[in-house]
Order: sequence, then C-alpha cells, then structure tokens
Amino acid sequence: MSDLADRLQQLQTDALAELAVAADAQAVDSLRASLFGRSGRLTVLVRGLAEEDPAERPATGKVANAVRDALEAALTARQAAIAEAEGAVPLSGEASDMSAPGRPWRVGHLHPTMTVERDLREIFHAFGFEVFEGPEIETDAMNFEALNIPPDHPSRDLWDTLYVAEAGGDPRQPAADGTILRTHTSPVQIRAMRALTPPIRVITPGRCFRYEAVDASHGFEFFQVEGLVVDRDTSLADLKGMLEEFARALYGEATRTRFRPGYYPFTEPSVAFDVSCLVCGGSGCAACGRSGWMTILGAGMVHPAVLRAGGIDPEEFQGYAFGMGLDRITLLRHGIPDLRLLMSADMRFLEQFPAGR
Ligand code: DAH
Repeated sequence: MSDLADRLQQLQTDALAELAVAADAQAVDSLRASLFGRSGRLTVLVRGLAEEDPAERPATGKVANAVRDALEAALTARQAAIAEAEGAVPLSGEASDMSAPGRPWRVGHLHPTMTVERDLREIFHAFGFEVFEGPEIETDAMNFEALNIPPDHPSRDLWDTLYVAEAGGDPRQPAADGTILRTHTSPVQIRAMRALTPPIRVITPGRCFRYEAVDASHGFEFFQVEGLVVDRDTSLADLKGMLEEFARALYGEATRTRFRPGYYPFTEPSVAFDVSCLVCGGSGCAACGRSGWMTILGAGMVHPAVLRAGGIDPEEFQGYAFGMGLDRITLLRHGIPDLRLLMSADMRFLEQFPAGR
C-alpha cells in the first residue's frame, strides 16, 4: 500500500476518534470543515493523488473514496444523534405527509337567538319590510320622551333603566346629557321616521338593556325586534292581519291568535297579541298558566305625539307598531327552561343547536 493510502487510513482513524468526542453540533460542523474544507485534511491528501505513481493511483483512489464515504456517513450519523438528543427533530422528519387525511375544521354556528332573529328578518322581508338599526346607547329623550313618556310618568316603571354615567360620575345617577342604555328598540321608530319618508315599513332588531334582578325569565340584556309601518290609511285591521300572517309564518298554519287590550304610552289603542299555547296547543298547561294562550308581543296604532316626534304629520299619516322579545321566542322554540343559558357562552349548551334550531 502506498504511503498516501496509509496516511488516508490514518486520517480516518484520527477523525473518527475526534468525532467520538465531539460534544455538540458545532463541534461536528468544525470537524467536517477541518476534513472537507478547501484546505481540509482530507482535501489536501486527495489532491496528492495527482502525484501518485500511476501504478498505485487506482488502488489509492479507492482507499480515498472509501475514507471519504466512511467519514461522511459517520459525521451525518453523529449529527443526527446530537440533534435528536437536543430534541430538535431533523428536518427530514418534519416533511408533511401529503397523503394524510386532513383534520376537520371546527365550524361554528349561529346562536339560537340569532337564528330566531334571522328567521324574523326573512319573514318580514317577505312582507316588504326593510331592516333599520339604531344605537344601543341612547338618550332619555329618544328612549322615553319622543315616545310620549314624560319624566316621572308612572309608565317608566315598565322600563327600569341602566344609566350611562359621565366619566368619573356616579353610575347610579343619570348623566346630565341623559345618556342611557336603551330599554327597548322603540326609539329606533323615531330614528326611522326622521330618516325615511312614508310609506315606511321597517323592522328594527337589536340588543336592549334593563336594570333587572336576573332570574330564569329576566335578564339585564336581551334582544327585541320592533316593527313600524307608517302610511296613509293604515288601520288596526291592517296590524291585526299582518300579525296573524306573521304568527302563522313563525309557528305554523294551525296557530290561532287573539288581540287583547293593552297599554303602552306610544300607541293608542294598544294591544297585546297572543298565540295559542306553543306547548299544549291551547288545551291549557303549566307553560300557559292553564289559559291556552301565550302573549308574544305588544302592538298598537302609533300615538299622534310619537308621529310628530318623528317629524310626521298625524293628520296625513297613520302608523302601527309592534315589539317582541327574541329571547322568549327562542326559549319557547327549544323548550329551554332558563333564560340565563342563552347568555352563558357555555359550549355544552350552545352545541345543542348546531343549525341554530
Ligand atoms: N317597547 C315595548 C317593550 O319594550 C314593546 C312594544 C309594545 C313595542 C308596543 C311597540 C309597541 O312598538 O307598539 O315592552
């Protein structure tokens, strides 16, 4: 064996010994450079092949190849072992398996109350109503006074109010500018009348707030949909026909309905609108207090003072309005016993309404 072949084999022995004590990836890298770099030890020896006796050259060349392959393999193996010990998975292990089945997306769905809202939008859309929305933060003037409810009027007890305090002010006292959280969607009637010209047919869905002691049937936060129609020659009969159609669209053709006298300051006359009990169908049960009827909304002919507050001449136009709570409709639709579940954000509850239904 030639002298060069001997030195190549010696280099392999030395390098493997050095590799055995290389403690980290950096040490392996610098060993690799010291062997394979431009003036690396192996590179220099291999360059010497050119001066080798032509008779020896093929054999020495074979040795050189074998040494190079052995060192390459040893360096790579050691590098992988170190990477694994350090917890870094080698890149090859990270490659994606393109044939693996995908992970399913977790698709959310509408809250059951929002499904009810959407259904109402659809029903009223078919009746020619457009959607008109107003702000959740209102003024006393819009929420009450424009709706014919003066300060200190006894009917204010129907709407316990959450006041918005001035910065640094006392939250139990009304702010000087009268800012409140709206207690119903009725102030949007005023906004709609001021913004639109008759004939007006709008529904105004939205969130409302009241200062309530929270229990199974009361929340401080809830949803309403208000309806308003202003036109020449609208009548209580139109309102009745409209609501009957609405009740059948929402609850089915077999639903029976009735008007009862009611009281709201913003309508005259005012009515309560009942449907045959959604639980027993009218024969009388605990849910309807044995009456066979359930009240689903309040309504009436818009009071002339309210039309005037909306900038509409009551001599020329009449209107009817109605307002209903979405949460109650949702509870009845699904037989949910406690209103608080709707606001709980509890996935175990919400996941029971995959289509919102
Ligand atoms: N705003 C009433 C409430 O919150 C509901 C209502 C009743 C709205 C009669 C109306 C109406 O538009 O005409 O209890």
